[in-house]
Amino acid sequence: MTTRPAAETMGFEPHLFVLFGATGDLARRMLVPAIYRLLESRNFDDQMHLLGVATSELDDDEFRAIVVEALVEAGWTAEEAERWCAEYVSYVSIKGGFADLAAAVTAIEARCDLPGNRAFYLAIPPSVFDDTVEGLAGAGLTTSQGWTRVVVEKPFGTDLESARHLNEVLHRHFAESQIFRIDHYLAKETVQNLLAFRFANMLFESGWNRNQIDSVEITVAETLGLEGRAKYFDRAGVIRDIVQNHLLQVLTLVAMEPPVRLDADSIRDEKVKVLRSIFPVRRGAVSRGRYTAGEIDGEPVPGYLDEEGVPATSVTETFASIRIDVDNWRWRGVPFTLRTGKRLAERLTQIAVRYKEPPVSLFEVDGACPVHANVLFITLQPNEGFHLTFDVKRPGEGMELVTQDLEFHYADAFGRLPDAYETLIADLLAGDQTLFVRGDETEEAWRILGQALDMTDEPKPYPAGSWGPDGEFQRPVEA
Ligand code: BG6
Repeated sequence: MTTRPAAETMGFEPHLFVLFGATGDLARRMLVPAIYRLLESRNFDDQMHLLGVATSELDDDEFRAIVVEALVEAGWTAEEAERWCAEYVSYVSIKGGFADLAAAVTAIEARCDLPGNRAFYLAIPPSVFDDTVEGLAGAGLTTSQGWTRVVVEKPFGTDLESARHLNEVLHRHFAESQIFRIDHYLAKETVQNLLAFRFANMLFESGWNRNQIDSVEITVAETLGLEGRAKYFDRAGVIRDIVQNHLLQVLTLVAMEPPVRLDADSIRDEKVKVLRSIFPVRRGAVSRGRYTAGEIDGEPVPGYLDEEGVPATSVTETFASIRIDVDNWRWRGVPFTLRTGKRLAERLTQIAVRYKEPPVSLFEVDGACPVHANVLFITLQPNEGFHLTFDVKRPGEGMELVTQDLEFHYADAFGRLPDAYETLIADLLAGDQTLFVRGDETEEAWRILGQALDMTDEPKPYPAGSWGPDGEFQRPVEA
């Protein structure tokens, strides 16, 4: 999908990586290990420096200890991590204001002979987002001798209005080409592969439309619950947390027209066209659920309302199933169902493309021997791969049809897949925006969710460890 060469062959320009929210969970669990892995894969040849920024008042060594701990947890030895941190990692507390940050940036760039290329990664809560962008601008940090890029983590707003506001704040100080909005799903290899699969294989693309396809279901099922994020999640629910971003982004890649070229804007132009052709969702198209107590992997887990930090009056959904109509030439009349849930029976992200049944039921006599429609299952995670079901005649007398499938699994062909954050950081440093969400895409995605965003009906109950509220969701395929 992206035009970027493999990470090992690419030279990053010397840069300063300024990580806001550097002591937070995302930084420690995902970002720091991804940065380190990326640099390691390139033999630490890059001239760079990581500057951690957070509210805690720490000195460099205290912050380095946090980074070392994160790296050890991710599998490296303390010696390797300490060696790297001593040379390449520093910290400044934002408590001292943006002037302190600006002074630290200038000092590090002079000391490490960096040319002023700066990536500001905002892994911070939305509530401090505006102040941070304005603070950077006020301290003169939005322009430099080199390039300046800003990375914005989700959630990008909570509705259309707040997303517009965030875009306005960003555009006041940065050009769109400097803004990198993260949706880590876009960097999953299997998601990127959707374009290769569709546009490199004539066999599928020629029937990828309303003439041959009956329906499309895209599912993000998780066994995880709140993971200590009740405060954020109870205000978001899965519609804001997963549907607005990950599910709608996957939908755009399934439904888009071929781009004229593989550059970032050609691809994003086609994605936004898909979003524009979708009518805002109405309440009747949405089914919401909420888990009650149950079992995950044999262990008892509490119901959502008994989770720590969740108010007893909460009507937040932990499961949603939404019907979407893509009202364009290719897809009119083909229902897309987007589904997601927390505390479901299994972790499974999958696209199921159901083909139409043959026009004449040649094999069906007196209700016996029905033909089963072909289904293409694209499993995005885990056990990444494809299944295509088709009917064959069972050998022997008479004509009995049975369903078989053709399979492909990434692990058999390629081994380990790169981590999404590693890919995103490599692209950020190379200035490739293909895997990042453009401002207009995020506004369109909020617009589509329409009435789904403020539903206050009581969500339907489902036991943790099940596949969601009764009749809403069948586990699609043995993946
Ligand atoms: C995040 C959501 O964006 O995606 C989480 O905030 C969710 O709630 C996570 O658990 C799922 O990501 P993945 O890569 O594990 O499917």
